[in-house]
Amino acid sequence: MDFAVLGLGDSSYAKFNFVAKKLHRRLLQLGGRALLPVCLGDDQHELGPDAAVDPWLHDLWGKVLGLYPVPLDLGTIPAGVPLPSKFTLHFLPAAPRVCSEGQRVAGTDPQGPPSEQQPFLAPMVTNQRVTGPSHFQDVRLMEFDITGSGLSFAAGDVVLIQPENAASHTQQFCQVLGLDPDQNFTLLPREPGVPCPARLPQPCSVRHLVSHYLDIASVPRRSFFELLACLSPHELEREKLLHFSSPQGQEELYSYCNRPRRTILEVLCDFPHTAGAIPADYLLDLIPPIRPRAFSIASSLLVHPSRLQILVAVVQFQTRLKEPRRGLCSSWLASLDPGQGPVQVPLWVRPGGLTFPQTPGTPVIMVGPGTGVAPFRAAVQERVAQGQSGNVLFFGCRLRDQDFYWEAEWMELEGRGCLTLFTAFSREQERKVYVQHRLRELGPLVWELLDRQGAYFYLAGNAKCMPADVSEALTSIFQEQGGLSGPDAATYLARLQRTLRFQSETWA
Ligand code: 2AM
Repeated sequence: MDFAVLGLGDSSYAKFNFVAKKLHRRLLQLGGRALLPVCLGDDQHELGPDAAVDPWLHDLWGKVLGLYPVPLDLGTIPAGVPLPSKFTLHFLPAAPRVCSEGQRVAGTDPQGPPSEQQPFLAPMVTNQRVTGPSHFQDVRLMEFDITGSGLSFAAGDVVLIQPENAASHTQQFCQVLGLDPDQNFTLLPREPGVPCPARLPQPCSVRHLVSHYLDIASVPRRSFFELLACLSPHELEREKLLHFSSPQGQEELYSYCNRPRRTILEVLCDFPHTAGAIPADYLLDLIPPIRPRAFSIASSLLVHPSRLQILVAVVQFQTRLKEPRRGLCSSWLASLDPGQGPVQVPLWVRPGGLTFPQTPGTPVIMVGPGTGVAPFRAAVQERVAQGQSGNVLFFGCRLRDQDFYWEAEWMELEGRGCLTLFTAFSREQERKVYVQHRLRELGPLVWELLDRQGAYFYLAGNAKCMPADVSEALTSIFQEQGGLSGPDAATYLARLQRTLRFQSETWA
């Protein structure tokens, strides 16, 4: 069998394109014939995965057409003509309002635990800033009431939250596209058997579609420009869009879009003649759906029954664009004010990447700088409530009085002998002190717990450098305290990982 494997990955993760590489090797082993070397698309590349994918696809079509020439009389799809849209929108004559803000498909006939198809609309109870006034980042402790939801979770699980667009963005989008937000429509698939998005009510209002479903605040992909070019009636705009979709235009597209994190809505405002001519049928082909966001659950049901807490860093940063970039979900959540009246957030839970030992007497070492401490707050609560001892936490933050989350709670637990806490305040002295420095200082204890007492080791937080730095600190401890050679220390760590005694949950 002839085959070719295209991998889409991110080289900031240790197992970069692991599946593609493995699949390629396995197909070779089974006697397959590789048409091309495996393609390793990399999200970390300046130009995104396309930098590797474009030339690879070019070669692939060359090979495939060589093997299976297309008969000349078969005809091709003329360039510049869009494929039919996946769905058609049938606008309804003015009728009773069918789906206004706040009304969702979810919860109409709940079956089983809440899920992506049927989230639970959880009342927000608390939305409180927990970082000091001079701290660079706005971090919130949020609490939801999950009474009657059927939701259940354990330490290490995550909650998924379905955010929505800012009302001002929804309004602006409708304006630029010439859509009436109050109009209702039903959605029909063009091909029989294609399911309509389960999250959309039928019939649905344009406002609901835009605010709850279309990810207009995301950075558009190249396919967006390709389709937009086909739909554009305006010559100058179409030329620019075609350039952005071409392999030659990728450098320019990158500096126009990806580098400054320009959003779909902003691009549409830059191409007003095209935006105003987009047929509504194409909206779902053009714009991806808003994805749910995952947050580590920071509370235990054993301590806060019927409640679910999370720690949310409100994402905001500046690029060369005047308007600051804002994270869709964190900004939306931060904007909700339960003090001003009831607020509901669609959510559901799923198992996370961390599981804690249930055997009594097994100690745990948890390393969670910054918001990475969230899952360990749940774990400590759960374990203390279960009477488990051996809870060791390494926490790192910038300044004790600015971003030391749950300080009073940790102190109280320490006072009761339920927790051993080690802190690293990175900016309280000249030289940076991080959790991995504290780990190394406490090498004898860490080795004793891991090697003698069979402790489990956990790591959570920013995926950038911290995970590699902490792993390096651990292997040095194995060498210094356990007398292992470099390779043996690496094997020791790999064994901990394999037996789930080293687990990590990191995010970008
Ligand atoms: P910094 O911001 O002063 O550099 C939570 O974000 C804490 O993690 C902060 O104190 C931050 O320090 C620290 N931090 C930054 N980079 C880190 C790394 N590579 N390893 C461990 N901690 C790090």
